[in-house]
Amino acid sequence: MHTKNKLLLNNLRRKFIVKSINNLNQNFVEISLESSSDFTAPKPGQYLMVMCRNSEEIPLSVFKCENKKLSLLIKKVGYSTSEFFKLKIGDYVLVRGPYGNFFETLNHENILMVAGGSGLAPLYFLACERKKGNLEQDILLGFRNLNETVKLGNFNNTSCFNKVVYYTDDGSYGKKGFPTDDLLTYLKRGSYSLVVAAGPEKMLQKIFQTCLKEGIDALFSLERYIKCSLGLCGSCILEGRNKSYRVCVDGPVFSITQLKDVVDFGKFKYDETGRKINI
Ligand SMILES: Cc1cc2nc3c(=O)[nH]c(=O)nc-3n(C[C@H](O)[C@H](O)[C@H](O)COP(=O)(O)OP(=O)(O)OC[C@H]3O[C@@H](n4cnc5c(N)ncnc54)[C@H](O)[C@@H]3O)c2cc1C
Ligand code: FES
Repeated sequence: MHTKNKLLLNNLRRKFIVKSINNLNQNFVEISLESSSDFTAPKPGQYLMVMCRNSEEIPLSVFKCENKKLSLLIKKVGYSTSEFFKLKIGDYVLVRGPYGNFFETLNHENILMVAGGSGLAPLYFLACERKKGNLEQDILLGFRNLNETVKLGNFNNTSCFNKVVYYTDDGSYGKKGFPTDDLLTYLKRGSYSLVVAAGPEKMLQKIFQTCLKEGIDALFSLERYIKCSLGLCGSCILEGRNKSYRVCVDGPVFSITQLKDVVDFGKFKYDETGRKINI
């Protein structure tokens, strides 16, 4: 298809039907969607703009993608995400995208992934795609507590990770603490050439500092307030000393080199009204 037509198609809202709902716990749901029309196949790390019923349109990473089926992993945090928990099989949602860049990891045979909460979504998709090419990965996976823990045993393709280590803040499942607590040990012990991380920005900042100190390459998936997803409104700006970025089109995936220059990484972001707030 001509690139211009492809871009236009990407920006149209398309109807996807809810095919299955996997209630993982009180705070996480996996929703599988199917479209009768063609859509651009997303790459791991890319996101969609999705709305349902009365929700606003929100950015959500692709969790799984096979043929005409897409899956989302959604954490209930506020109004719009709660609306997704009310969906029933046969309902529809409106989707545009995929948007943004993606994780480029094919040159790395063995990588360490670090995920916090809904940060699991893009990393799981990446791991499944890499496994198809016999590339390997371990994952350090953190959640607040047992009630929020998404166990990989809930999904068909658990074998996409060699090693999975769970952490909870309160020790109610897996190891007590944060995935960052053991990061250095794993980096020294393993033969990883790249760290790939997604989750809360404070966690990403710690990983960034450790990787910088150890001289290991890293990619980070960042979240900022995404309204247009087209690079137009400026709500997702990441301010750098030499260059600023729009997370919606220049990201959401950023390299360690790019983030070295970013002054508000781990410190500030903009809310829905454009006010600068502490992270
Ligand atoms: C690129 C990207 C990929 C994401 N992927 C996932 C995913 O796979 N699964 C998942 O559960 N969550 C994901 N999120 C986060 C998700 O978009 C927010 O949790 C959701 O928008 C919150 O909406 P709400 O109305 O429920 O919460 P609100 O009460 O409105 O807000 C709760 C929090 O979510 C943030 N938020 C609200 N609206 C937006 C928005 N439009 N853009 C970014 N952040 C927002 C707010 O800053 C606030 O910190 C992703 C965010 C981004 C930017
Ligand atoms: S969301 Fe509008 S510029 Fe990024």
